[in-house]
Formats: sequence, C-alpha cells, structure tokens
Amino acid sequence: MTFRGKERLNWSLNNYLGLADHPEVRKADAEAAADFGFASPMGARMMSGNSNYHEQLEAELSAFVMKEDTILCNFGYQAMVSSIDCLVDRRDVIVYDSESHACIIDGVRLHMGKRYVFKHNDVEDCEKQLQRATALAEEQGGAILVITEGVFGMRGDQGKLKEIAALKKKYKFRLFVDDAHGIGTLGATGAGTGEEQGCQDDIDVYFGTFAKSFGLIGGFISSNEQVVEYMRYNMRSQIFAKALPMPLVIGALKRLELMRNHPELKGNLWKITHSLQKGLVDAGFDIGVTDSCVTPVYMNGSIPEATNLIFDLRENYNIFCSMVVYPVVPKGMIILRLIPTAVHTQADVDYTIECFSKIVGKLKSGEYMSDKIASV
Ligand SMILES: Cc1ncc(COP(=O)(O)O)c(C=O)c1O
Repeated sequence: MTFRGKERLNWSLNNYLGLADHPEVRKADAEAAADFGFASPMGARMMSGNSNYHEQLEAELSAFVMKEDTILCNFGYQAMVSSIDCLVDRRDVIVYDSESHACIIDGVRLHMGKRYVFKHNDVEDCEKQLQRATALAEEQGGAILVITEGVFGMRGDQGKLKEIAALKKKYKFRLFVDDAHGIGTLGATGAGTGEEQGCQDDIDVYFGTFAKSFGLIGGFISSNEQVVEYMRYNMRSQIFAKALPMPLVIGALKRLELMRNHPELKGNLWKITHSLQKGLVDAGFDIGVTDSCVTPVYMNGSIPEATNLIFDLRENYNIFCSMVVYPVVPKGMIILRLIPTAVHTQADVDYTIECFSKIVGKLKSGEYMSDKIASV
C-alpha cells in the first residue's frame, strides 16, 4: 500500500486469496456498478429487494459450503448478532467459547435466556457447561445452541469443532460456527474449518463473511432449509433493512467462481503462510498455537514500547502490520499480527523476518522505552 506517499509492505489485510485486487474481480465490480449502480435493490428482501442474483449467490454459496440453503446478510458482524438473536428464545440455552469474537458476544447479550461460557477451546469444560445447559433446557422445554469459531482471529488457533461435534453423541444441541477466517482458506475445496477437520456435516449453522477471503463486504448464514427459511422471516437485521447492493452480490459471485476454479490461489496462500511461519520460528520468534494462516508474533513490552516499535517498523522499515496489546492480551504482552496472502512473495517474507529480528533486538535493548510516544 501507499502510506504518506511511500510504498509499504502490508501484512494487515484479510485479503487471504488476493482477490481484492484481482483483475477479473475489479472488472466484474466495475461492470456491476455501471449496470446497476449501488442504489439497487431499493428495499428489503421481503419487500422489493429480492433479485435473481441474490438467489443465485445463495444457491452457489450453499453448494460451496455443502449446506441445503443460505441467507445473505449485509455485514458479517450484523449477521452473527442478528442470527443468534433470531435462533433462540428465552427457554433456550446458549453455550459459547470464552474467547469468542465480539459479534458472538453481542449476539449472546441479546439473548433473554440463560447462557454458559466454556473456557477457550476446552472441550472438557464445554461438556461441563453442556451438562448444566441440558438440565436447564429440559426443565424449561428449550433447546441448546453451542457457538464457537472455526479460527480464532487473534491467536489463529482452530476451534475444536470435531471434538465439540462429537459431544452430540451424549448431548442434544445444535452447533453454530463463525468461520470468518476459515472460509476460503481451509478445507480441500476452501469450504472452511469444518471441511478441514472432516466435520462439516456436524455444523448445523455455518457463518461466513465476505470481508476476508472474498475481499468484499457482506456475509451469509448457511444451514438446512427449515432453519434458513425461518431466518428469512425472523432475522430482524435482514427483514428491516435494505438488501445487499447488486454490485456486491455480483462481485461475490465472481469471487466465488474464482475460488472454485483457481485452487492455486489457496495454494499460494499456504505456500507463503508456511514459509512465513517456519521462517519466524527458525529465527527464534514465538508464534504460539496457530494452525491457520493468522500469524501472531508474541513479544514482551509495554504499550508505549509497542507503539514506538510499530512506528519504527512502518516509518523506517516500510512494513505495516497491526499490533495487539492489553486489554485484548495480558499486560506486558505485544502481538504483531501478520496476515499472509496469496499475493505476498518469498522476498516479502525474507525481508520481514530480517526486519523483525532487528526490531526485536531494539525492543530487548530498551530502545523503544521512552516517555514520548512516536508520532508524525
Ligand atoms: C471471527 C469474526 N467474526 C465476524 C467478523 C465480522 O465480519 P464482518 O467484517 O464481515 O462484519 C469478523 C471480522 O472482523 C471476525 O473476525
């Protein structure tokens, strides 16, 4: 990217497959905008906002993630909040992972019934909460919705979907998976974390966003026909809001076509991911427990040090990446979060690891400690 007039190497875009700037995508986006404009459709899906393109995209997404039906949503965050709100009533019980994304937390906040949280990715604790939830749901005549993520976006660890799904043998619940980072990046066909772990069929409700691998805006929920049909008439964020604009729908169709027909995009993504992750580990960096493309680099330091470090990295080494500090991670911990993509090169990887070695040296020798935080 160009930032303040200078070319910078950017590791902070969720453009996993490099589709955001793909020439065919840019052409399809431009043509759809010219043909339809951004105003259309001028209504909610249930009123005047439906189109053949919306229905075609829903059908193609259903096939891609191997579910019976799909409903499009205007934003991923809103899709999760609103679908949780729509799927449970006060008699139902939610069981969810403690490190869930804000969209899950906010959806759970809307729930008027009981919720139990399990320790992050701890299947034993999930089972404990399921026991409590089962007793309550039986007493109230409700059901249980377990919500977790395919890939946790900060640490990059995959949700233990297969193990959680196996609990269905002992407990009655439906599994809802937010696969924002999994769709397009994981699984043989890119259908996501469920496909990767061999448990896609056990996911009852599947969420994907267009904001990451697709390089677009919007999201979708896929499930069986009955659940999706229910959502079409009960999910407030879609009933009471204008439908996804036509260029976004047509743009998503083009991206999906490229994802299906060009597996080399995912191949390149993983080539870069493996090389980056191995290179960092070989150079002595701690990348934690990631088993996805999300690549966190853990360092120790204060928030002012992190700010000075990231400034130095951007202004003097021309590398742009996001930092994560307290309260997202414990005090004293800094994460530099790298998102590899299919359009990074091996030279980008080599240069970045070389620069990271230099800046971590400076961090350790106290060079970033200062009363003054760097700014321009
Ligand atoms: C795990 C997870 N869920 C949901 C979202 C929200 O998606 P969107 O950006 O499409 O609103 C994100 C994106 O930040 C995410 O990382």
